[in-house]
Amino acid sequence: MLRAAIAVLVALMLSMGIASRPSKAADAPVSWLPGETREAKDARMTWWTKAKFGMFVHWGLYSIPADGEWHMRNKKVPLAEYSRLAQEFNPTKFDADAWMTLAREAGMSYLVVTTKHHDGFALFGSKASAYNIVDATPFKRDVVKELSEAAPRHGITFCTYYSFLADWGHPGGQAGCPPWDPASQGGDKRAYISHMATAQVRELLSNYGRIGLMWFDSDGSRDIKPEESAAVVEVLKTHPQLIVNPRLQGVKGDFSTIEAHMPLIRPKVDYWELCTTVNGSWGYTGSPARPLDKLLPYLITAWGMGGNVLLNVGPNREGIIPEDSAERLRQIGAWLKVNGESIYGSKAGPFVWLPWGTATQKDGTLYLQVFKWPEDGALCVPLANKPLKAWLLADPAKSALPAEQDKDRIWIRLPKTSPDAVASVIALQVEGEPQSTFASLCLNKPVTATSAQDSAGGITDDDDYSRWRCAEGTASFTVELGAPATFTTLRICPIVNKVTSGILEVRHEGKWTTLRKDIALQRDENILTFPPVTGDAVRFSFTGEAKPPEISNLELYPSL
Ligand code: GLC
Repeated sequence: MLRAAIAVLVALMLSMGIASRPSKAADAPVSWLPGETREAKDARMTWWTKAKFGMFVHWGLYSIPADGEWHMRNKKVPLAEYSRLAQEFNPTKFDADAWMTLAREAGMSYLVVTTKHHDGFALFGSKASAYNIVDATPFKRDVVKELSEAAPRHGITFCTYYSFLADWGHPGGQAGCPPWDPASQGGDKRAYISHMATAQVRELLSNYGRIGLMWFDSDGSRDIKPEESAAVVEVLKTHPQLIVNPRLQGVKGDFSTIEAHMPLIRPKVDYWELCTTVNGSWGYTGSPARPLDKLLPYLITAWGMGGNVLLNVGPNREGIIPEDSAERLRQIGAWLKVNGESIYGSKAGPFVWLPWGTATQKDGTLYLQVFKWPEDGALCVPLANKPLKAWLLADPAKSALPAEQDKDRIWIRLPKTSPDAVASVIALQVEGEPQSTFASLCLNKPVTATSAQDSAGGITDDDDYSRWRCAEGTASFTVELGAPATFTTLRICPIVNKVTSGILEVRHEGKWTTLRKDIALQRDENILTFPPVTGDAVRFSFTGEAKPPEISNLELYPSL
């Protein structure tokens, strides 16, 4: 009675504008731009969504010690000593057009360069700080200017990375850890934010023509006040159609940044970007480029989940992108020349996971990127649709491949040898919206954990972001499947900290059996395969891990 009366009163107040509705997700801001509509944001994101592939460049004084961009902090080098590297920085072989040419050859259409990394040294002439390439080096050339001018000549959108809060080279810049050089790292954070960082962002957005994207970084530093981030937004607003990443506190980014791990399931966001490296390090170290048969499927997997890929190269102290990195990029470009129709402008495929590759879709066509060519020449696609036509993208004649439906599977007959040694693409058109029932046996199944039970559901839900925030180095969790099921593949991703001592057990008819011991998991997609195993629960445990691993997902799949 009382409740009904209150409801009537609230409805009356709402209709009179006296009470306000609790903010629904639909009312939440869509971006950092105050009041922007979803349509306006989608329009602003168009070039980036179509581009799919960009070049990330980490370059600065740290290319001299060749020890990665964290050299100063890792080796605790005092600023007075580190900054002397500027006098040695004379990269006379730097050629902005050569970088752009390589980006184009790789099939990339945007380039994000570290205009200032955490070491605080800027690659552009700056009035806010003389610690920059023009004022502090014998080179004296404004690299950001040369790149910004070269980019449009090559059809590349020029973009800037800027380490905003983290700065080990200016008083008041944050270190994200106890400072090792209080003499230079103390100082007024508020003054640093307004007179140095915000001022340099203003310089970048005012002096270099069109900038497509501002890619902020923070090194975990978070001390920024609402009025300070609001002042940054005012500066960002001056640059028409700018896209902003999500790494500056208080500035709602336009997309999610996923770094150093492959999500197991498609991130539940409209826009996301995987940033990764060609050779395992951001700044130059001399380490060799990853083999094409590892790197290319990795990138395609991100595209298969609807992401963009920002692939990093680290030029050396002379300004040259190492030849093996360049060669790897050209190989990716050669693949995109043949198969780019399946990538550019595409969206995520209709599958969570496929044992032989991944898939994208565009304009009513599915594209199946096959990494493991079936030995018997029969590709099984878990779709309950009638196939209309299938062909190889590498075949300009588009000759039809035989394709048949068998209940919720489509079988495509392939030639004996794959057109590409690493990833071959089959275009497939089917009747109606693609319908797939191939899913993890663990999906949304109950989990009990010996630690952090409140977050354990994150292991089996269909959200890559939610995770089990395990707090102990010795722990286990059990997933109840509800009924006996047979599986052949396990996928698992520790998103924070690795696992070195994993044990996987299965319960069948009330009895637990160990399937694998000493399982080492990297912070990325890990796949374990077995001959068919039947059970109604699985348990994963580890012992004595130095840092508690946080697991984003565990999935079990039957054979396809
Ligand atoms: C990591 C590195 C940082 C690099 C960034 C790029 O956070 O620590 O140096 O700039 O990745 O996303």
